[in-house]
Amino acid sequence: MSEIVLKTEGLSKSYTVKHKTILALNDLNLQIRRGEFVAIMGHSGSGKTTLLNILACLDRASAGRVLLNDVDVEKLRGSQLNRIRRDKIGFVFQSFNLLPYLNARENVELAMEGSKQSKGERSARARELLGMVGLSGREEHRPSQMSAGEQQRVAIARALANDPAVILADEPTGNLDGKSKGEVLNLLLNLNIKQGTTIVIVTHDNQVAGEAERVIRLAGGRIKSEGKGNLARRKKEFARRAGGVVAGDTLGQPETPHDEPMDRA
Ligand SMILES: Nc1ncnc2c1ncn2[C@@H]1O[C@H](COP(=O)(O)OP(=O)(O)OP(=O)(O)O)[C@@H](O)[C@H]1O
Ligand SMILES: [Mg+2]
Repeated sequence: MSEIVLKTEGLSKSYTVKHKTILALNDLNLQIRRGEFVAIMGHSGSGKTTLLNILACLDRASAGRVLLNDVDVEKLRGSQLNRIRRDKIGFVFQSFNLLPYLNARENVELAMEGSKQSKGERSARARELLGMVGLSGREEHRPSQMSAGEQQRVAIARALANDPAVILADEPTGNLDGKSKGEVLNLLLNLNIKQGTTIVIVTHDNQVAGEAERVIRLAGGRIKSEGKGNLARRKKEFARRAGGVVAGDTLGQPETPHDEPMDRA
């Protein structure tokens, strides 16, 4: 399988409102490697959400293409597109988007609807994932009975349900206070470091972006600049200690200074 999980080629998206055209994405070229943790930053209106929605196959580009695991998603329609959305992409929203009348386990199980697993297998998988995000014992609680940070962890468990190729998160810590923000960030970092989950997050938060591996700044629908975050340095250090594992590969079980929810599982 290719090392490139997601690739955009000449991606453009325009919106026309009242005869005025807005170019939200302008010939954007981007590559996300397997096992990367990428933060996307940029001023309001720079195109971050537009980009993430197109990467998640929730919206279509006006020009250019998106390759997900080498598949040109533009060519997919109907059930094929639904399947790739369900199986290859885990999406995390700023406002969690959990169904209020379902408990945590049922919210996670819902993501597996239509998969080949039996009801029992889905339930077991949901419990396993909730344990992994530090929510053992909270399976039967509804969103209204959980804190914002806990709800976002349920949403992350849901995003992981089908073992996606990539987690895409739009401002996942935007509605959280300082402590919950740290917990959710550590959870995402641990998923990336320990399980090699590829993660792309949009954030306005310098502190969150600073912990990522690669930081991409958008302006006017284009990539303005790229830089490295703390995780790049940490992975290099892990690789050195592990004897030459290259950053971006699955890292096995390196020691990490961020030992929050996943380690309680
Ligand atoms: N459905 C739409 N119709 C018309 N214009 C849109 C639509 N969605 C986005 N835009 C415009 O496209 C541009 C990029 O919007 P986008 O939501 O991607 O920005 P963003 O970087 O996510 O901003 P924020 O940080 O405020 O969330 C903006 O100028 C916005 O007004
Ligand atoms: Mg946005």
